[in-house]
Amino acid sequence: MADSKISKFVAFMVVFSLMICSTTMAKSKSSGSKLRVGYYYKTCPQAEMIVRKAVNKAVSKNPGIAAGLIRMHFHDCFVRGCDGSVLLDTVPGKPAAEKDNIANFPSLQGLNSLKVGWIGYDVPSGRRDGRVSLSSEVLQNLPPPFFSAPQLRDNFRTKGLSLDDMVTLSGSHSIGVSHCSSFSSRLSGFNATFDQDPSLNPGFASFLKTRCPAGNSDPVVSNDFQTPNRLDNKYYANLKVQKGLLTSDQTLFDSPLTRKLVVENAKYGFDDSRAEVLSPQTNDQVITSDDE
Ligand code: HEM
Ligand SMILES: *[C@@H]1O[C@H](CO)[C@@H](O)[C@H](O)[C@H]1NC(C)=O
Repeated sequence: MADSKISKFVAFMVVFSLMICSTTMAKSKSSGSKLRVGYYYKTCPQAEMIVRKAVNKAVSKNPGIAAGLIRMHFHDCFVRGCDGSVLLDTVPGKPAAEKDNIANFPSLQGLNSLKVGWIGYDVPSGRRDGRVSLSSEVLQNLPPPFFSAPQLRDNFRTKGLSLDDMVTLSGSHSIGVSHCSSFSSRLSGFNATFDQDPSLNPGFASFLKTRCPAGNSDPVVSNDFQTPNRLDNKYYANLKVQKGLLTSDQTLFDSPLTRKLVVENAKYGFDDSRAEVLSPQTNDQVITSDDE
């Protein structure tokens, strides 16, 4: 289940356009601006296959890329919509691009496996590549790992996403890794009352300390210690025993706002068909041919 599920999920969420198609696409006159399924049917009938092949190849070379691509999609979509703007390089002499923001550099994996921009295929396609990419907009839009459930709710709400969407999408932390620096404030010097975050299982905290020795290096730890490479519901099970890695993970169980949703997901499993929840907001702020 693991690998095929992950690649299905990745192929679903993460699709990118390739040079081969861009000339034809530029020439094609679109009838109206609307996004639609099958947008590339005439202009680039092989788009899906090309994309799927490239993703599979990248993932088989480096399985960690799957997690990187999923996170990249999230970081792209939350800043100016899903327009590929996270892929743009900073122009010398101009303000820094999204890519160079602390939230993306150096931790965002997958940038090198992509070339041009996004197209959607399971989701309606026809979105154009964004031309604006500003590092200064990243932290205004992406939630940090120390956010509480109400703060996360407010952030996701501005993207048109519900609590249910938020808990489902957070299930992406069932794979991939985090740098120690993303959660080390929970391990020591937490606050004036507690040296360690009391919402963190003490045994798990000891384990994490062995993985995050003091020093200059900033190693990575699996987001889901039980099944680190499987997109499954163990992520939610971990939260029930206070073994969520990030504050923003653990709060989903600890807060009455989202606890029920976590319990349900832990029971019924991760439903990868729900991956599409990113698409309502992907249609928001989208650039289409009307804008040109
Ligand atoms: C709920 C708010 C969220 C917060 C605060 C958050 C924060 C983070 C942080 C801090 C990391 C580790 C970065 C590092 O230290 O290297 C991470 C990793 C990751 N996040 Fe999130 N995230 C959130 C939601 C999401 C969503 C919605 C998705 C996808 C739909 C996602 C996908 C991932 C993946 C796949 C990784 C692992 C990346 C890798 O292994 O390269 N996250 N997230
Ligand atoms: C420390 O954190 C705990 C748990 O989040 C909280 O209840 C407590 O009020 C905090 N103490 C201080 C001094 O901030």
